[in-house]
Amino acid sequence: MIRTEKNLFILETSHTAYAFRTTEAGVLQHLYYGARLPRSEDYDSAPVILNQPGNALLDNDGLCREDLLQEAGTVGWGDLREPLVDVLFPDGGRSCDFRFTHFERPETQGPDGMPSAVGGETLKVVLKERTHELYLEIYYTVFEETDVIARWTRLINDGAETIWVNRLMSQQLDLPAGDYDLVTFRGAWAREMDTVRQQLAGELRWSSTAGVSSNRCNPFAMVCRHGTDEDHGDVWALNMLYSGSHLGTAQVNAYGSVRLVQGMGGLHWQLLPGEKLDAPQAVMTYSGEGFGGVSCQMHPFVRRHIVRGYWQNRERPVLVNSWEAFYFKVSHRKAVSLARNARNIGAELLVLDDGWFRGRTDDSHALGDWTADPKKLPDGLAALAREINEQGVRFGLWVEPEMISEKSELFSAHPDWILGHRDQAIGRNQYVLDLTRPEVCRYVCDSMKALLGGADISYIKWDMNRILSDMFTPTLPPERQRETAHRYVLGLYSILDELTKAFPEVLFESCASGGNRFDLGMLCYMPQVWASDNTDSACRSHIQWGYSYGYPQSVLGCHVSDSPNHQTLRRSPLRSRFHVAAMGLLGYELDPGEMSGEKRDELREQVAFYKAHRRLFQFGQLRRCPSAKGECFTMVISPDGAEAAGVHFVWENQPNPKSIPLYCRGLEGETIYHLTNHPTQSRITDFGSLVNYMSPVRIRSGSLVEKAADRFVKLPSDALKLTASGEAFCRRGFYPVQPFGGTGFNGPTRLMRDFDSRLYIWEKETE
Ligand code: GLA
Repeated sequence: MIRTEKNLFILETSHTAYAFRTTEAGVLQHLYYGARLPRSEDYDSAPVILNQPGNALLDNDGLCREDLLQEAGTVGWGDLREPLVDVLFPDGGRSCDFRFTHFERPETQGPDGMPSAVGGETLKVVLKERTHELYLEIYYTVFEETDVIARWTRLINDGAETIWVNRLMSQQLDLPAGDYDLVTFRGAWAREMDTVRQQLAGELRWSSTAGVSSNRCNPFAMVCRHGTDEDHGDVWALNMLYSGSHLGTAQVNAYGSVRLVQGMGGLHWQLLPGEKLDAPQAVMTYSGEGFGGVSCQMHPFVRRHIVRGYWQNRERPVLVNSWEAFYFKVSHRKAVSLARNARNIGAELLVLDDGWFRGRTDDSHALGDWTADPKKLPDGLAALAREINEQGVRFGLWVEPEMISEKSELFSAHPDWILGHRDQAIGRNQYVLDLTRPEVCRYVCDSMKALLGGADISYIKWDMNRILSDMFTPTLPPERQRETAHRYVLGLYSILDELTKAFPEVLFESCASGGNRFDLGMLCYMPQVWASDNTDSACRSHIQWGYSYGYPQSVLGCHVSDSPNHQTLRRSPLRSRFHVAAMGLLGYELDPGEMSGEKRDELREQVAFYKAHRRLFQFGQLRRCPSAKGECFTMVISPDGAEAAGVHFVWENQPNPKSIPLYCRGLEGETIYHLTNHPTQSRITDFGSLVNYMSPVRIRSGSLVEKAADRFVKLPSDALKLTASGEAFCRRGFYPVQPFGGTGFNGPTRLMRDFDSRLYIWEKETE
């Protein structure tokens, strides 16, 4: 709910409140963001700091803006902090003083040409620069039930002269002095979302200059009080609906108060008389219940207000992707056979990844030429899709439409369509198309429409495999070149808007070498993202843990791949590869036909198990549970609390390990749950020569005898059955079955290898 009382604005959600007021001089003073308070007056008790001893400056209304908590920081007037807005006026001055003029309660509205969250209740506050005809509009949208507030800004040049915009950030949050930490998510290709927690002192940044939101540093970040943990403490989380370069700064001023600003990075924009400029929409949330509290707010927010359309609440198909099965060596026969093998394990969608289009022999050719390669697919895509659909499997296709290979027909026809100059840094042998040009966007849109219209394609993996660095477009004059990066993103959004509206039932999965463009902006168009090219279950459990702070598992593509893994060469059990992938949108990055019959049976059982619990795995609330060092325990709980699943992953197996209970999260207090585990199988070969300790005949490792024994002797699987209240599972925890600890094996022993796991299921007792 949005309440406006005299000069006071209170934005309330179910559990939080955000408050600011206009001072007598019309400056927007930020008052509070935290748990809801009992009375309106409670928010209005913050002082207007009139004076600071020493050499701080006062503005001409006697306000010391250096330490005033504000809604719209600018350059000059004694405020030394990072501004929300920074402009260059015609005389070269940058001092800027926005004063409140009025507010409105419009229909919810987002920035032009960019995505925005769906729904909510909006407040628009209008400010005018004191001596120029420059207006600043701030839009706040309240998403009551998910405790999220969105914010974005618009600058309008109503004067007669051009203004240069050096910065127009999306959000600002000033917090009172205190001891805080900043938590950001950093990484690189195949190592996305590493959690970095730093004490907040001086100034820290989280940003991307890569032209994409990037795997180097995700736009999602949190500020918390020292000592905050998963379950306790104040946390403020920020994110943006933007897919280009971004900048976030967290700054402690001389008096200890904190300013957070977040918005587009590297912007420099010419604002002609009568023009406006919009910043992307940003979102924030507050929880007093630690990082877990933030995730329990951000996940439903993303599910309900970011992801939209046909697939929003629909269960996603289990897919088999061809990439690691046959890389560029695509053929009609292989694709059909992979579809058959996919169907045999119960998968529902075959995705033909890279390598299918004309001339695409390797990664140095053909990007831009989006027609089937007649050598590999002589009957074309429509016939292939038909044959695959006839197998009872839907057909999906990989594309990388924003790119162009030098060796392509498109490049021969339009060498000037690349972004930047030809002689520049090149990534994966490809250039980026100049999406600041309408005719290039038209080509991309039309070629994708022709593909989607020409064959029965149910799914598109939209890839983007390089960063943008040498930003230049011949279509802009030199002084406007720094608009290129943002104009690229606007071009991209216009394409995505048109295409997703034209093909609303196609399931789009966004990808940028895995998670190089994993952000809320892309998620407004595409309901899921290929989270990382790294499918190693040990790495993936860490990467998915990182994503889970700000994003629900319903947007994370997670696949089981072969062992040894193609990124790490690590060998890991098939069960743990499945368990980790099951905590997201399950797929397979392998050819089941290449596996032994026994392994195929295991895949079939996995898919059936996943489908039986699919709604829970995909749309349950994910919780990070207390996990010992080198372990990772996560759970998903159904919205009605009737069912839950949990995966306990262990990096390194220890002999004679400590008995540490697993503590659950999210199970309902007095509800009685029955716990069982997903059945696993152990094998004779797991023991190597140790099997001779028991065996009446000597068995050599790798011998025919061992193989025969492995085939016929089935070891009992550790099975756990427990009944307890939700409260007991959370507070007292439960002990997994006794692990194998160097000696002694019998039925109930839990055999764990390195990178192994167990998957547990809780079911509510029915009366
Ligand atoms: C990127 C993607 C992979 C695969 C390849 C194909 O690396 O992240 O999943 O699609 O491109 O070239």
